[in-house]
Amino acid sequence: MTLVEVKAACMKSLEKARLGIDERAIQDGKDFYKYMFGHYPDLRIYFKGAENFTPDDVQKSDRFAKQGQRILLACHILANTYDDPDTFKAYARETVNRHRQFKMEPSLWSAFFTVFIEYLATKDAIDDASKKAWQELGKEFSTECLTHLKNLGLPH
Ligand code: HEM
Repeated sequence: MTLVEVKAACMKSLEKARLGIDERAIQDGKDFYKYMFGHYPDLRIYFKGAENFTPDDVQKSDRFAKQGQRILLACHILANTYDDPDTFKAYARETVNRHRQFKMEPSLWSAFFTVFIEYLATKDAIDDASKKAWQELGKEFSTECLTHLKNLGLPH
C-alpha cells in the first residue's frame, strides 16, 4: 500500500470514531476506553485513580469523556499525516515525550494498534484493507517511538 492509500483507508475507518463536541462524538471516544478497560484491564495501571474502573465507570466519567476525544484526535492526526513522514514521525516522538512520566512498557507502542483496530471493529469500521492500513501505520509509528526511546537512553 502507498502512503496515500494507507492514509485514505485509515481516515475512512475513522468516520465511525468521530471528533466533535456532540454527544455521539463524545461517546465514540468513551467507547475506546470502555473497550480497552473491559478487554485489557491490565492497561488500567497507567491511569492513576482509574486503576479499578469498569467500562461502566468510564461511561460515567468526565475525565474519559475528555480523554476519549484526545486519543481519537491523536489517531486522526496519525492517519491524516501518514503521507507526510516528517510530521508523522515528529508526532510519534512528541507522543513518547508526553508519556515518559507513565514509564510504559515499550512494547505497548505497537500493541496499542491491536486494541485500536479491535475497537474500530466494534463500530463496524474495519475491513481487510483498513486493518492492513492500521497495522502498517502502527508499525511505522512504533518503530519511530522505539528509535526515539533508544536515542533518549530509555528502555526500548
Ligand atoms: C494520555 C497511557 C498509547 C495519545 C495518556 C494518559 C495515560 C496514557 C495514562 C493520561 C490520561 C489520564 O490518566 O487521564 C497510554 C497507554 C498507551 C498509550 C498505556 C498504550 C497502550 C497512546 C498512543 C497515543 C496516545 C499510541 C497516540 C496515538 C495520548 C494523548 C493523551 C494521552 C493525546 C492526552 C495527554 C497528552 O496529550 O499528553 N495516555 N497511552 N497514547 N495519550 Fe496515551
